[in-house]
Amino acid sequence: MIELYLDTANVAETERFHRCFPLKGVTTNPTIVAKSGKGLTETLAKMSAVLGDSARFHAQVVSKDVDGMLEEARMLSELPYDMVVKVPATEQGLAAIKLMKKEGISVLATAIYTSQQGIMAALCGADYLAPYVNRIDAMNSDGVGVVREIQTFINIHGLSSKILAASFKNVQQAVEVMTLGIEAITLPLDVAEQMFSHPAILPAVEQFDKDWNQAFGDKLSFES
Ligand code: G3P
Repeated sequence: MIELYLDTANVAETERFHRCFPLKGVTTNPTIVAKSGKGLTETLAKMSAVLGDSARFHAQVVSKDVDGMLEEARMLSELPYDMVVKVPATEQGLAAIKLMKKEGISVLATAIYTSQQGIMAALCGADYLAPYVNRIDAMNSDGVGVVREIQTFINIHGLSSKILAASFKNVQQAVEVMTLGIEAITLPLDVAEQMFSHPAILPAVEQFDKDWNQAFGDKLSFES
């Protein structure tokens, strides 16, 4: 089954969506954590309490050089959770990913804006690849197309990397990439909410209520 994540550091909203979605876990990035006003350590502990032991967390290194990224990845991967270390797919990041994989650290290559960047990260052994669909679209390019090309490359070469598509502004982008055979996706909270929001849904449910009440009053279905 496709792994479904929320791209957030908001614990209360994660608890809300955990009730109605089959969440695999949570992804964050430095911007998300910074804006939450809480540190990563505190957030991970609270998220783990909400999501349980099977939750997977993707958290990003903030070091800029290869040695620093590697050392930070070691520390993140030693946290008492199922951790995937996010590393930007830059020159330094790709070098760090190669070293991390030699040590068996789980890695997600992030900040992927081009197919070639995703392809190189896959060849460096990244477990997950995060193409930024909406950010690519916003640059007058084709976010879904980039996801499709990387997934095609993975399939042709039988690579084990999983695309974890990220950066969405609407459900259309999310549904389009989910139907390409990708193995993971992370949704911002507003797009997660759009998964069950449509102007026709509530009126339909209200009409059911009205018709039922007219015929059977307060009776429940099995009482009618
Ligand atoms: O976590 C990285 C990615 O999800 C960024 O999304 O919404 O800032 O473009 P966004």
